[in-house]
Amino acid sequence: MKTAVVTGITQGIGLAITEKLLREGFYVIGCARSKTDLTALSRYWNRSGTVLEPHVVDVSDRDQLTTFSNAILASGRTPHLLVNNAGVFQPGAIADEPDGQLETMLTTNLYSAYYLTRALLPVLKTSGTGAHIFNLCSVASLQAYPGGGSYSISKYALLGFSDNLREELKPTGIRVTALCPGATWSRSWSGSGVDSNTIIQASDIADILWSAYTLSPAACPERIVIRPQSGDL
Ligand SMILES: NC(=O)c1ccc[n+]([C@@H]2O[C@H](COP(=O)([O-])OP(=O)(O)OC[C@H]3O[C@@H](n4cnc5c(N)ncnc54)[C@H](OP(=O)(O)O)[C@@H]3O)[C@@H](O)[C@H]2O)c1
Repeated sequence: MKTAVVTGITQGIGLAITEKLLREGFYVIGCARSKTDLTALSRYWNRSGTVLEPHVVDVSDRDQLTTFSNAILASGRTPHLLVNNAGVFQPGAIADEPDGQLETMLTTNLYSAYYLTRALLPVLKTSGTGAHIFNLCSVASLQAYPGGGSYSISKYALLGFSDNLREELKPTGIRVTALCPGATWSRSWSGSGVDSNTIIQASDIADILWSAYTLSPAACPERIVIRPQSGDL
């Protein structure tokens, strides 16, 4: 049974990716902050013969992230797939967003991926042909917009991290894909007035990740950009 590590597994895109990987027979080690949500999710999935190993982790907290990566390394399992998905979206303009917003965006959306990837790279390198790292970037990684603020800054940085990591890992055979979705239905959009049927579904992102992962190991989709059919909101 191959192992995947996914962050932010209880809602939205991370939940859809986790469910896809479980259905495809992966042992999934995942995290989120809400113990209640993690318990409900693992109770549901672990009844059906699949294995979901939940960890309560705030990925913006360096110590908690280290505890998480140490537990993965100590488990003796060798991840074949790492999905750096956990992230927060807070709109804002650089001129007037609250003090500390940049720090929140960077610790959650960038440093978490950087430090978790660094910790797991030694085992990922031993995991054989086709190992893959996915980073949940965004169309906000590619195009500035008013109101992007620190969120967009953090997503540009995550794309830079992805591109640099890919170059570094080319000799190892590990593939690195930056997933860049536009508006995708998740709790960030609930209450926004947006019709859930007019934007990308979280399952679309899970399906596109699976398509990229199952390409021949000789192929690396470097950046995948996916937008609502009618364009950005
Ligand atoms: N939805 C979109 O339109 C969209 C578009 C482009 C990119 N993205 C990116 O895709 C990723 C997922 O977005 P989403 O919309 O699916 O988010 P979401 O519905 O809010 O779900 C986020 C998931 O991550 C967990 N999480 C959040 N902060 C965390 C933290 N500090 N530590 C650990 N887990 C944390 C949440 O659980 P807890 O709250 O229990 O921790 C939840 O399971 C993000 O990186 C986001 O920036 C989303």
